[in-house]
Amino acid sequence: MLSQEKIETSNTLMIILTTLAVSVGGLLEIVPLFFQKSTTTPLNELVKPYDALRLSGRDIYIREGCYNCHSQMIRPFRAETERYGHYSVAGEFVYDHPFQWGSKRTGPDLARVGGRYSDQWHTIHLTNPRDVVPESNMPAYSWLNRPLKDGVIGAKMAALRKVGVPYTDQEIADAPKALEGKTEMEAVVAYLQGLGLALKQSR
Ligand code: HEC
Repeated sequence: MLSQEKIETSNTLMIILTTLAVSVGGLLEIVPLFFQKSTTTPLNELVKPYDALRLSGRDIYIREGCYNCHSQMIRPFRAETERYGHYSVAGEFVYDHPFQWGSKRTGPDLARVGGRYSDQWHTIHLTNPRDVVPESNMPAYSWLNRPLKDGVIGAKMAALRKVGVPYTDQEIADAPKALEGKTEMEAVVAYLQGLGLALKQSR
């Protein structure tokens, strides 16, 4: 028999049983999330896969490390919802691979920044934040004003399709053309302007 005393006085037994308890408990909490409708299906018909330009912008957002200062998840607390809008829900992020939720906030949360400012504001702000927010300590990203070169956009979309993003063959084939003549700045701004709109617009 495994008595309480036997378990508590044997390191090995304690380690094995603790690992077992934590693993089973963890799996029971985590695994259902992979199958629940609310976490695996789009919130509504406004949640769509990123088009080519936004997808490119999203990759630049990741490349530049914007997530080091910006989260994209509004928590369900009054102080957050008053400032940023409706709290984030899982169904808004089904096409985010990987998601950009984060928890580090040197700057504000960006989950619902879409439509809050004009494209021009974003362009000025990213080129030199101090031009629109004098007290800002956000770095300037002036080099984004250069031509967008994303030679693998089609391949990226094909890869995302493999993990469940429903891009059509046509969308993948048209992707390189959609980026022609664009700048990195335009891509990032397009990405930012789409953030969080699905829930905002459905209300
Ligand atoms: C070192 C931290 C830091 C990094 C890195 C950073 N930001 Fe910021 N960001 C801030 C701070 C602080 C603010 C608030 C002041 C301001 O508006 O400039 C801000 C504000 C913003 C805003 C305005 C949000 C609002 O609701 O007013 C946007 C949009 C934004 N950042 C986008 C970006 C993008 C895109 C990148 C990457 C290219 C980036 N940030 C990188 C710190 C950062």
